Amino acid sequence: MMDKHIDKATVHFQNVLQDQLARVNRMSTREEQTDYGALAPIIVGIIGGDGIGPFIAAEAQRVLENLLQGPLDTGKIAFRVIEGLTIEKRAEVAQAIPDDVLEEIKKCHVTLKGPTTTPREGDPWPNLESANVALRKELDLFANVRPVCVPNEGIDWVFFRENTEGAYALGSSGIDVTDDLALDFTVTSTQGSERLLRLAFEYANKNNINKVTLVTKANVVKTTDGKFLKIGYEIAKEYPAIEVDDWYIDIMTAKLIDPKRRTQFRVMAMPNLYGDILSDEAAEFQGGVGTAGSANIGKKYAMFEAIHGSAPRMVDEGRAQYADPSSMVRAGVMLLRHIGYGEQGKKLEMALDITGQFEKKLVMTGREEGASSKEFCDYILETIDDPEMEQKWKSHQP
Ligand code: IPM
Ligand code: MG
Repeated sequence: MMDKHIDKATVHFQNVLQDQLARVNRMSTREEQTDYGALAPIIVGIIGGDGIGPFIAAEAQRVLENLLQGPLDTGKIAFRVIEGLTIEKRAEVAQAIPDDVLEEIKKCHVTLKGPTTTPREGDPWPNLESANVALRKELDLFANVRPVCVPNEGIDWVFFRENTEGAYALGSSGIDVTDDLALDFTVTSTQGSERLLRLAFEYANKNNINKVTLVTKANVVKTTDGKFLKIGYEIAKEYPAIEVDDWYIDIMTAKLIDPKRRTQFRVMAMPNLYGDILSDEAAEFQGGVGTAGSANIGKKYAMFEAIHGSAPRMVDEGRAQYADPSSMVRAGVMLLRHIGYGEQGKKLEMALDITGQFEKKLVMTGREEGASSKEFCDYILETIDDPEMEQKWKSHQP
């Protein structure tokens, strides 16, 4: 009887091993890095997603189109709206990303994506893999870069979250060995850790940041987190000007709320699940997850998104038009920088800081007593048009 369960689980494990070894192999073969400067046009896909997604994605698109009027007119950039990455369609075809939608996404060089519903056991939807997770894996977007900045508090953080491995790699491929025993897997590879960690150190180096902090639980999760940490210290040797330290995830979550300690962190690099948790905590200092954007970076593709979910309750309660678009617009800042439009990115970032943190002429509450997404984006665009914007922004820097 026992043998039957063990045999079944062993076959499952063999398949897992084959897939993961094949993945490691693919990582070892060099993939060409996209040269955005050589593309005409750069195709920017806009994916609405679920819940509040289509509302905030459309507003973010409007802001970007405004900033990119010139390159749009000359055909250097083109926007393309991609339909169908919705929970209804995913449920209908029983796929995390419907094939035809994935095909359209792959025709874009970069995408700006609204949040998508992630089903779980017991939901009215089939318990599909998260579309976010599937997209990150499918497009091999190995780094999830999440900045959080609160100038008044001296907070200037960038989280480098490993995005294709850890507890997420096989999050939908665990095994129920028997009715009473369930196993999940966590995965760390040399190549997967190296590419993420190198990006973090490179970022620090380029931006004159002299500190990188590694976050793991390597004292308990010895093999996989241990590997990540070891590779982190090895790569650090290539950057002697950068000080490196490491913290365990539990004490790290505590130290982020210690006002004396937290300002010393700058660039933090960590496995997938820790990055998921820590970046939500961090965003809370900046005004909540509704204010935080993220970049999912691969060699060939990149996808930019909010760090939060699709907030179906806001739609059910008729409040979708009051959803905070700042997260998506912040993701837009990262997109602009990524495709070589750094000047527009800087302008938009200043406008977001002024509107969301310094001036706050309009405040988002998620309800009708606050501003609507459209009003807030109008406020952002008016701020950009103000010739005094840069002066205003500088006057608020510590
Ligand atoms: C995020 C989200 C996703 C994640 C969910 C929606 C699957 O929380 O981007 O942080 O866990 O990665
Ligand atoms: Mg998250």
